[in-house]
Amino acid sequence: MKIIMLGAPGAGKGTQAKKIAGEYNIPHISTGDIFRANIKNGTELGMKAKTYMDQGLLVPDELVVDLVVDRVNQADCTDGYVLDGFPRTIPQAEALTEALKKLGQKVDYAIDVNVPDENIINRMSGRRACVGCGATYHMVYAPTKQEGICDTCGGELILRDDDKPETVGKRLNVYHEQTQPLIDYYTREGILHTVDGTIDIDDVFGAIVKLLEA
Ligand code: AP5
Ligand code: MG
Ligand code: ZN
Repeated sequence: MKIIMLGAPGAGKGTQAKKIAGEYNIPHISTGDIFRANIKNGTELGMKAKTYMDQGLLVPDELVVDLVVDRVNQADCTDGYVLDGFPRTIPQAEALTEALKKLGQKVDYAIDVNVPDENIINRMSGRRACVGCGATYHMVYAPTKQEGICDTCGGELILRDDDKPETVGKRLNVYHEQTQPLIDYYTREGILHTVDGTIDIDDVFGAIVKLLEA
């Protein structure tokens, strides 16, 4: 089962991808998480990516595509995976389609988690990320057991640099210009499914499971 998560920044792609990965025992591959891990470790890729991410811009396609193609070729991906945050541009989608075609594979589901812009800014200001393991919470909608401390690893929780309101606005513009066209792309491929991302986290997940098991 090869799944792509689409949706605006803050729509809940990561939240749902993690649940799907747990339910179906497949890897969750988040390009944002990969970049953040590289930034934390001070790698060259991380340093390059950071200059774009902090401005709310996309990292150039050439820094992303090979990384993902290598990842989906690894042994743990044979039974499927859930891609979160990739593809994000038409060239990335085309590169993925081509790379999979060479392996005789294709994406099975593109799931668009639909949330209007009005809801996004509010969500992002309440999101907290763990500095230790990268787990994501929300102060109101997905709180930790103990305030400010990660449930998984005990790490400190912070507001992501790119979650400041001014940067969120920029990311939304970038989303509409560069990523939203993928909805048409995957509609044409015949694999687009849309779920309402404004409802409760578990209800969004229920809708996803229903479509995956239909
Ligand atoms: P990335 O990390 O992918 O960020 P994003 O797409 O902007 O999305 P987010 O992670 O911010 O949101 P999400 O949809 O995962 O929402 P979440 O589940 O956390 O990318 C960051 C940057 O890296 C990009 O800007 C770009 O620079 C670069 N990059 C990454 N991939 C790239 C690529 N392929 N090409 C080029 N550049 C790339 O949920 C948000 C919050 O809402 C959380 O607090 C959550 O708890 C809460 N929440 C979730 N669902 C619900 C719900 N149903 N109800 C209430 N609250 C909810
Ligand atoms: Mg995410
Ligand atoms: Zn943690």
